[in-house]
Amino acid sequence: MTRPQHFGWFLARGFGPQGWGYASLDWDYDWTRPEIYQEAARTLEQAGFDLVIIEDAPSLGSPETIDLRVRHAFGGPKHDPLLLAPYLFQATRHLGIVPTVNPAGLLPYTAARQFSTLQHLSGHRLGLNVVTDTGSARHFSDAPTLDHDGAYDRAEEWLDGIRSLWRSWEDGALVADTGTDVYADGSRLHAIRHRGEHFAFDGPLNALPFTDGEPAIVSPGGSGRGLGFAGANSDVQLALAPLDEASVRAYRAKIHQAAVDAGRRPADIKILFAIQPVITSSADEAERIVAASAHPDDAALQQIARKQSSDLETDLTSLDLDCPLDPAVFGAHVSQGSIRRLLGDRGPEAPLRAHLTALARAGRISDRTGFVGTAEEFADLIEELGEWGNDGVLLWGDFHPVTLHRTLDELVPVLRRRGILRREYAAGGLQENLRAF
Ligand SMILES: Cc1cc2nc3c(=O)[nH]c(=O)nc-3n(C[C@H](O)[C@H](O)[C@H](O)COP(=O)(O)O)c2cc1C
Repeated sequence: MTRPQHFGWFLARGFGPQGWGYASLDWDYDWTRPEIYQEAARTLEQAGFDLVIIEDAPSLGSPETIDLRVRHAFGGPKHDPLLLAPYLFQATRHLGIVPTVNPAGLLPYTAARQFSTLQHLSGHRLGLNVVTDTGSARHFSDAPTLDHDGAYDRAEEWLDGIRSLWRSWEDGALVADTGTDVYADGSRLHAIRHRGEHFAFDGPLNALPFTDGEPAIVSPGGSGRGLGFAGANSDVQLALAPLDEASVRAYRAKIHQAAVDAGRRPADIKILFAIQPVITSSADEAERIVAASAHPDDAALQQIARKQSSDLETDLTSLDLDCPLDPAVFGAHVSQGSIRRLLGDRGPEAPLRAHLTALARAGRISDRTGFVGTAEEFADLIEELGEWGNDGVLLWGDFHPVTLHRTLDELVPVLRRRGILRREYAAGGLQENLRAF
């Protein structure tokens, strides 16, 4: 039986130059102004989406490779998504807005107060995508950079601290009784004195307690430590995994086990699998796109090389496409996992062209080799995920109007007709929408 699922949009490239590098770029908008994001948020709310997650990184990366990151705008500039959030709340009534935040850059007391303010301003629609990137540490202090697990430890201390501040007003502390002229009962506010490994602060928080739940915590980390963090802390986990039945069930089981280990229920956490579909008007069109993708021209390969150069902070654009790619070009700063994803199992003789062509290659939804297909084919895939217990899907793209409409125009009516996409929102904000099914 078809069940409704939760839909999110991952605003890839964050609050940055939407659509840069596309043939369709030249529409009359300014990415630094709120209008393009507000319009997109309204569209997603009309469609019945639960939330928008705004990607972010506070840094342009290593000093030696900044040019690679900014030249084609893959790695920046990025403006602060936390400050975009109020504009999106104002443009919508139900949609959850989830800026990405990094505990490296925001002290717990300031964070607790700002998040609390936004939660109240928005009618309880704030979420926080908590990431643990350590590459930006040098912008915040000269302390030694933490390792992978150390960054997760700090994120846990940060979040525990924020939650203790949010909870520093116990039930009954807010009185607001005009009859007795008492606004609040100070004896019910907890002092909070935190002296931890990474942070030191005192409470209580000078912001009101919540009426419809705390901001939703979202997390994207897929390592063992990342899954443990999600199980213990998150309301939503963003999953990047193959979408066959065994992989989906295994990923869900790991998160659920982590939740149970932390004393929570599996149902407390919604898992959204990230997908970037190419929705076509016909199966023939999908066939043509897939066939063409096997033979990308040099311009298409250069565009992929630019993105990879930015992501891997290694210049691939100046290398000969037809020479073998020497793994020594990657410095120690590049993660082995990212290098493996690029090189696959094509062997040391494979030219750069082969690696980039593999990234260009698209597959059909209908035979489960990829994500190109019609709205009906995509809906079939989502229904199948639902049969395996899936909670929801995270569609991936920028907010260029062309991206949004190409993805959603035909898809939304099909998903709604099949009862997969919600038609109504709950009254109480993001947490209540997440709990509705
Ligand atoms: C769907 C998804 C979204 C992500 N969004 C961000 C982001 O906005 N900013 C960021 O710094 N990292 C982002 N990441 C990376 C993760 O925060 C994390 O650094 C990465 O997954 C490594 O953690 P892990 O070793 O636990 O997997 C994202 C990852 C995924 C899968």
